[in-house]
Amino acid sequence: MKKVIMDCDPGIDDAIALTVLLAHPEIAEVIGVTTVGGNVKLNYVTENAKKLLTFLGSKAPLASGQAEPLVKEIETAGEIHGKTGMEGYDFPKDSAKYPLASDNAITFIHDKLVNSSDPISIVATAPLTNIALLLKTFPDVKDKIEHIYIMGGSTLQGNITLASEFNAYVDPEAAQIVFDSGVDITLSGLNLTENKAYMTMDEIKSIKDLGEVGVMASSILDFYASAEIEKGMTKIPIHDACAVISMLAPELFTKSENYSIDVSMTNDQFRGMTYPDRRVYAEEKNQVKVLEDVDRSAFVDYLLNSIKSYEK
Ligand code: BDR
Ligand code: CA
Repeated sequence: MKKVIMDCDPGIDDAIALTVLLAHPEIAEVIGVTTVGGNVKLNYVTENAKKLLTFLGSKAPLASGQAEPLVKEIETAGEIHGKTGMEGYDFPKDSAKYPLASDNAITFIHDKLVNSSDPISIVATAPLTNIALLLKTFPDVKDKIEHIYIMGGSTLQGNITLASEFNAYVDPEAAQIVFDSGVDITLSGLNLTENKAYMTMDEIKSIKDLGEVGVMASSILDFYASAEIEKGMTKIPIHDACAVISMLAPELFTKSENYSIDVSMTNDQFRGMTYPDRRVYAEEKNQVKVLEDVDRSAFVDYLLNSIKSYEK
């Protein structure tokens, strides 16, 4: 049984990812959920995490983290996730009571790590601000981290600029710190999430028939898919679910490559570009396992079955 902390910025695909993660207590015990400013501001993402955890009947401890990236000011993605970050479904109003275990995600994760006899994995589906600060402030905890499964970056196209993916673009300094940390990392970038692990509109529509959780998931995904279609996309990427499923079902990912990755910190369209060093004589500055392909239909089945599993 794995022990897992999920660091996220819900965010519609984060919400789907967390829903999938919490559907598998037989594989992973979620010992914490932490939030960070990203898709929308910190107060909204924390509120959304409370709404979702309440809706799913979870008791996972929740901590809020950093509101702003390490260096630059936050940029959000309300045009994709809606003004409050999880638009499309009217969640019951009782979530305000969901307790906040801490308002310091860094000490929260630190304490979980040092007090655990087993190593803990982290799934990070947002700008890496919390995780970078954890690793810089408490470098000794690296030994207690089993693996970090990240959604972020791309070895091909970007989505914020031609080269930069949102999470890496919002906090490139944090991404570089995490990549250079020496902790084992598996990366789901846009090269996987957009090009290989996408869902079709028909697949998304089928989610509404998967019970009460299916209705919630399909309602928020309808909002998200419309925004993606408006942007010109025809295949819908559920980015953050890739990071979660790469941990829960690694056998579905059929191709990967280890690269040393540099993150661009220039203030232009390359800010946040995650560039893999493909030279045969590349120095091993860091080693990141980059996922490059997936059995798409098995991936989609896994996601749908996870949602369906909530049905009593
Ligand atoms: C990433 O950016 C966010 O908008 C999504 O939640 C995902 O984590 C995709 O680039
Ligand atoms: Ca996210």
